[in-house]
Amino acid sequence: MNPEAIGRDEYRHRRRRLMERMPAGAVALIPAADTKARSRDVDYLFRQDSDFWYLTGFSEPGALLALVPGRDDGEAILFCRERDERFELYNGERLGPERAADVLSVDRGFPVSEIASVVPGLLEGAAKVCVTLGDYPDFDRDLLKWVSGIRARESGGVVSPGEFIGLKSLLHEERLIKSPNEQRLLFRAAEISADAHLRAMRACRPGLSEMQLEAELVHEFMQGGARTPAYPPIVGGGANACVLHYTANDAELRDGDLVLIDAGCELEHYAADLTRTFPVSGRFSGVQRALYEVVLEAQEKAIGECVSGADFNRPHEVGLHAMIEGLVSLGLLDGSLEEILESGSYTAFCPHKSCHWLGLDVHDVGGYQVDGRWRKFREGMVLTVEPGLYVRPDMEGVDAGWRGVGVRIEDDVLIAADGPVVLTAGAPKQVAEIEAAMNGA
Ligand code: GLY
Ligand code: MN
Ligand code: MN
Repeated sequence: MNPEAIGRDEYRHRRRRLMERMPAGAVALIPAADTKARSRDVDYLFRQDSDFWYLTGFSEPGALLALVPGRDDGEAILFCRERDERFELYNGERLGPERAADVLSVDRGFPVSEIASVVPGLLEGAAKVCVTLGDYPDFDRDLLKWVSGIRARESGGVVSPGEFIGLKSLLHEERLIKSPNEQRLLFRAAEISADAHLRAMRACRPGLSEMQLEAELVHEFMQGGARTPAYPPIVGGGANACVLHYTANDAELRDGDLVLIDAGCELEHYAADLTRTFPVSGRFSGVQRALYEVVLEAQEKAIGECVSGADFNRPHEVGLHAMIEGLVSLGLLDGSLEEILESGSYTAFCPHKSCHWLGLDVHDVGGYQVDGRWRKFREGMVLTVEPGLYVRPDMEGVDAGWRGVGVRIEDDVLIAADGPVVLTAGAPKQVAEIEAAMNGA
């Protein structure tokens, strides 16, 4: 746990902002993530729930944050596991409720064993409860039990919560705009990831397996201080690049093929999401280069649209139009831009959207539309721009020479006052830069 990566004041500020957005008389409950079994007696590496982390910076499972605006005896209450010598001998130190107020700057710490006796008291008299239901079934069950326990005493004059309010709609609007500290962490995660892609380009040669390139990426992530990838790395050689969520990473990299790497690290819970496509042996063929340049031009145009005030969908539209025009000029699509958009024939080559929010989650939170219209970019938002073009090996009506080639180029972009800032700019993407990096420059 490193609460100083963001700073206690910022966590306190976030809780305050959320409490200000909550309706009058509401209480919020935010559970921590659970541990998950991977195999017998072995858990997956624990990853904290992003909402809980956003509000606490506390990385232990088995915890619950309660926010009770206006409560005299403390508004921010953390329930966490008690110190336990035997447990800590095996698993390392626990914070313990007595240190919660000091270390995390919450108002009160309680042991988790007191949740069932304390939380119903916090809910009693509250008109509304702000929660996210559906993520943690045990918590949902407990909550309903507490509420029905209070209801059972209504005839005695007790007021029970009458309404559940979705916490996401309140909190995720806040998470959408990244603070300067968050921008700093996202930038550092992007830098480490860019270094990792550069390392993979330099290490790449025919005969390696895809997972040996994955090893180069993970090495650089960890050397940079990022313990894990933000998502399972995709390393797809040749036609494997056309499998959008390919993660087998066990094929041999072959001379004459491209390899597509989609890999980013997670740093202090903040994600990078970065894709580069490059030739296994360091030189693009004519066909590969032609397709690559189409995607690159589309991506650069799309990034240019990432400006405050523009619609969220604008970069995708501009990039897609550029790819369609490129495919027409290469003879892979026929017709005018309007006809191709109308018929949807482009989806055989360009099957996915080009942008998503980025933050604590790789596909970060925050609605893409507001009242049925695309959300407008504002300073502090961070998104990916990732157009891709794929000619599957079995694609009909396409000359064999184009088949089995997949290209995606993905960068992480901050909407800033004076235009888009590409956080992942350290990873080469111009053809000449890639070839130079792979051939000893
Ligand atoms: N790596 C997941 C994505 O690009 O959205
Ligand atoms: Mn990606
Ligand atoms: Mn992405």
